[in-house]
Amino acid sequence: MGPLDYLKEHENESMAQLKDLLRIPSISAQSEHKDDVRRAGKWVADYLNKLGIKAEVCETGGHPCVVGEYKKAANLPTVLIYGHYDVQPVDPLNLWKTAPFEPIEENGYIIARGCTDDKGQMFAHLKGAEAYLKTTGSLPCNVKFLIEGEEEASASKLDEFIKNNKDRLAADVVLVSDGSQYGNDLPAINFGLRGIAFVEVKVTGPAKDLHSGSYGGAIANPIIVLCKMIAQMHDENGHITIPDFYDNVYTATQWEKDQYAKLPFSAEEYRTSTGAPKLWGEKGFSPLEQNWIRPTLDCNGITGGYQGEGGKTIIPSWASTKITMRLVPNMKPMEICDKIEAYLRKICPDTVKLEVVKHGGATPVQVSTDGPWLEAAARAIKTGFGKEPFFTKEGGSIPVVETFKTVLGIDTLLVGFGQQTDNAHSPNERFAIKDFHRGCRTSAALLDELSKVKK
Ligand code: BES
Ligand code: MN
Ligand code: MN
Repeated sequence: MGPLDYLKEHENESMAQLKDLLRIPSISAQSEHKDDVRRAGKWVADYLNKLGIKAEVCETGGHPCVVGEYKKAANLPTVLIYGHYDVQPVDPLNLWKTAPFEPIEENGYIIARGCTDDKGQMFAHLKGAEAYLKTTGSLPCNVKFLIEGEEEASASKLDEFIKNNKDRLAADVVLVSDGSQYGNDLPAINFGLRGIAFVEVKVTGPAKDLHSGSYGGAIANPIIVLCKMIAQMHDENGHITIPDFYDNVYTATQWEKDQYAKLPFSAEEYRTSTGAPKLWGEKGFSPLEQNWIRPTLDCNGITGGYQGEGGKTIIPSWASTKITMRLVPNMKPMEICDKIEAYLRKICPDTVKLEVVKHGGATPVQVSTDGPWLEAAARAIKTGFGKEPFFTKEGGSIPVVETFKTVLGIDTLLVGFGQQTDNAHSPNERFAIKDFHRGCRTSAALLDELSKVKK
């Protein structure tokens, strides 16, 4: 029996094991789940150790990560597999049809927080390795694992851990499955991810909430002031109005545009899948371009004033918002934070005090679109999915990919097993059971193909 047969034969068992991991509420952004994140890490380390891959839970100063290593032979390539076992918060909980940490199977999907992002995709790689070990007694090349616990939390200590463990993590190529295929039955290799910059903005007016009858009209309302500022971030064409925001912004190559032209795309299907009444976006760019190669600015949340039941007639003391900007190549997170701060200071009226907390973010990445690793990955996808991959980009960010390049000097293969419509970060997150099993098979095929690349 070969690795692929093994996976076929053990599909039910694989799914049951994944469900075990999905039951752990490893929400990295919420401190009350700190121990759960660690427990998920321990689950992963235990799983690897049981396979005979030496692994341990490592301290980073933040949530722990798991490092595993299987040594085969010095003349063979070393593949570093990265993934994350932390998940996003579940709110709004009332929109979930089932409990987020009680995985269930329905209509060909497994439904639970983290199933596609990223526990299911990450676990597919543990199964790929398992299939090899159980059927051949070894892995076809050297394999390292770096599975982390704070990808979804904005402040990560993993970079520092990587800098301090360069030798331990040294490899020839990194393999990451933490994104999506282009569509159903349309597997893809991603050659770019957007970066991100994150700021929190607060405006404060009166020292405390005031009666809106006694003071309304004479004291500026911080919520209105903040909303006006937010409304000045885009012009009527969807361009961002922050001065110098688009300095050096990357423009797509002809090769890249040709790849996009090959992709089947229905704007109407795309719209319907979101439930939005109409598409929106920067004029002069297609939806794929808007999503993959243009920078954006979004408010992720806005707070201020009375949110409880019934009415309360006040002028609130303050209002705040969280803003993220997606970045494309040549944009630097901290520079962008500085630019938005300067603009906010310029447009903020003197009726309120302004505070801006700049968190920086993640640098955009673009990986090579040819070479032996890529060709090997394309062959593996053909084996696992039965189709040739498309070349795509992703609008999301995986901060560590840039670190792999700059600190370890290694290129990353981005092979997503999920779908854009899997509800990542949303209620009712799902992962097609078919995609999970194809992911497991692709992982085994990747180990085989990558082991044959001359390093
Ligand atoms: N898996 C995603 C990244 C992703 C999103 C890839 C969409 C492909 C398509 C990852 O877990 C994620 O959510 N990243 C965050 C990073 C942020 C918290 C710094 C993101 O993109 O918002
Ligand atoms: Mn992810
Ligand atoms: Mn995510």
